[in-house]
Amino acid sequence: MTLNTLSPVQTLTILPGTTCTGDPENFTEITIHPGDTISVVGPTGSGKTAFINDIEVFAQGDTITRRKILVNGSEPAEDLVRDPSKKPIAMITQNNKCLADLTVEEFLAMHLRSRKMEDKGIITSVIDLANQFTGEKITERMHVSSLSGGQTRSLFIADAVNISNTPIILLDEVENAGIFKDRVIKILREKHKTIIFVTHDPYVALLTEKRIVMKCGAVEKILTPAGAEHATLTKIAKMDSDIMKLRERIRSGELLTVSREIEA
Ligand SMILES: Nc1ncnc2c1ncn2[C@@H]1O[C@H](COP(=O)(O)OP(=O)(O)OP(=O)(O)O)[C@@H](O)[C@H]1O
Ligand SMILES: [Mg+2]
Repeated sequence: MTLNTLSPVQTLTILPGTTCTGDPENFTEITIHPGDTISVVGPTGSGKTAFINDIEVFAQGDTITRRKILVNGSEPAEDLVRDPSKKPIAMITQNNKCLADLTVEEFLAMHLRSRKMEDKGIITSVIDLANQFTGEKITERMHVSSLSGGQTRSLFIADAVNISNTPIILLDEVENAGIFKDRVIKILREKHKTIIFVTHDPYVALLTEKRIVMKCGAVEKILTPAGAEHATLTKIAKMDSDIMKLRERIRSGELLTVSREIEA
């Protein structure tokens, strides 16, 4: 049996709400299945965060957008919504912070205890997974409050995968945090997680299978490129890796008089 068949969420359905001017949103429904990778794009203020917030809170026409979220075709059961240990959704934003002054190990151990799970190597596997997402290594002795933005996000994603084991992971503009987004997508896809990325990053947008385009608080379009962007994706992957290398050189204090990455 795969983990996924144990998941209480086989489909998530988003029913339309209203636009920023109060008009009905122009789609019938959006259904999301386990393993789907989706990006949410659109100008600043177009409602991207509001869209994933609706999913996170299982909106029932009670948010500013008036959207409704169904789980397996019906209004979600109360415990999925209210009980944090049953909640199938983890949302990772740029503001995620751990306020308690714990080490990484203590923080993960506390999370395991709260879920009545035994360690059995899980703490090590969470840290190992997080370290695949970030270039700056995390160790168990580090204090969570002193982790960088990229390390914190990587740890929370790994925690969501291995401890909370949520089938759905929402990420709000985490691309600038210096995490290896292609690895995040690859690994979460292998684990059959549903990933919804709010992003301004062309590489992330092209790595996902479906693109939801927002405008004036509403879903304006849903694009399913189905391989049509493959050539562009190959070019962007190279550009992205060049930028990463340049970023590393800038971080290490180099003067970029020669930009061999770009010229190569
Ligand atoms: N359907 C809607 N109806 C009314 N107001 C909305 C709707 N969707 C979003 N808003 C409001 O519009 C504002 C901008 O939305 P939001 O923060 O989701 O934009 P964003 O696309 O995430 O922007 P950014 O790129 O800057 O993060 C918020 O105050 C939000 O509450
Ligand atoms: Mg936003």
